[in-house]
Amino acid sequence: MIKTNLALLKESITHEPSFDGQSARLITLENANGMTVSFMDIGASWLSTCLPVKGEQREVLLRSTNMTEHMKQNAYFGSIVGRYANRIANGQFTLEGHSYQLDINNGKNSLHGGFQGYDKRRWTIKSQSNNHVMFTLESNDGDQGYPGRVTVVVTYTLTEQNSVEITYYAETDKATPLNLTNHAYFNLAGESSTAKSTDHTLILNADYYLPTNESLIPTGELRSVTSTSFDFRQAKSIGRDFLSEPDQEIAGGYDHAFMFSKEVTDGQQDAAVLISPDKDIVMKVKTTKPAIQFYSGNFLVDTPGASKEYQRYDGLALETQFLPDGPNHPEWKKNSGILNAGEIYQHQTSYLFEF
Ligand code: GLA
Repeated sequence: MIKTNLALLKESITHEPSFDGQSARLITLENANGMTVSFMDIGASWLSTCLPVKGEQREVLLRSTNMTEHMKQNAYFGSIVGRYANRIANGQFTLEGHSYQLDINNGKNSLHGGFQGYDKRRWTIKSQSNNHVMFTLESNDGDQGYPGRVTVVVTYTLTEQNSVEITYYAETDKATPLNLTNHAYFNLAGESSTAKSTDHTLILNADYYLPTNESLIPTGELRSVTSTSFDFRQAKSIGRDFLSEPDQEIAGGYDHAFMFSKEVTDGQQDAAVLISPDKDIVMKVKTTKPAIQFYSGNFLVDTPGASKEYQRYDGLALETQFLPDGPNHPEWKKNSGILNAGEIYQHQTSYLFEF
């Protein structure tokens, strides 16, 4: 009998021990429309989304072959990343008069929380039902160099409208940079298909993007997308203007933060829309976060994946978040991603699949 994708996922991800010597715990949710989504407690990761399309189950998320490979990859497949998503220049920032030095794990910068970011941790499964799973994580004062003890709660819900809703909640006892996101990679033509990220069509309701330097740190400028290859305000094939400008060449494709227009960040409207090459799946991203990192999979070279060795552009990430390197840009005000003691970090992003 041919093993289903879900049986293979369970076997491959729970068979070998994870970082702490124990097996990952896998949670699968299913709705009445036959859509299934799977998560694991390592990194509170979103590992699989299977949609019944044209009489078949289509896996639209990328993931590692097995736990051993998952522990080696640096793509952050489906994981919750934190304490601060994306890069902080030289791993340094100053907050409330104190200077902090973080792990340097990406060139000369700190990426996605450091060597032992939230993606490497075993999260506690706090509650679970047919349609949701709630994960919690305690991040100590000093964790990877960050100040303050932070409690994080991430809840995934699968709705009957075929939406995967992610809610983020956090508190801290000291001011700290905090920028949580999910790092799923999508290929709406199918994880095992030959389609590339560049074959998809994208809408981003964003008037500004952040150009970067060669180590992918934002220069600080919020540049208008008008008349640039970064204008996705009207549906556009990702491949159309691919690598057509120096701001893309520096990153090997798209790997940039886009600032959403304020009016689309109410969590109800479509902030981003991704359309499969055959137009048979439309994914609508709604969020309360101010920005999104659109990453076209530029570093996916030779990464062992569920059905094959992934190559560049085999999937793309749409990571809703605050601005990269925000702690070094207080002029970005509340988009700088600082959470103060006594404040509550509460955000929501949903991925609605129409098929
Ligand atoms: C983010 C970054 C990319 C890359 C991936 C992980 O999307 O912006 O440059 O590091 O994470 O591989």
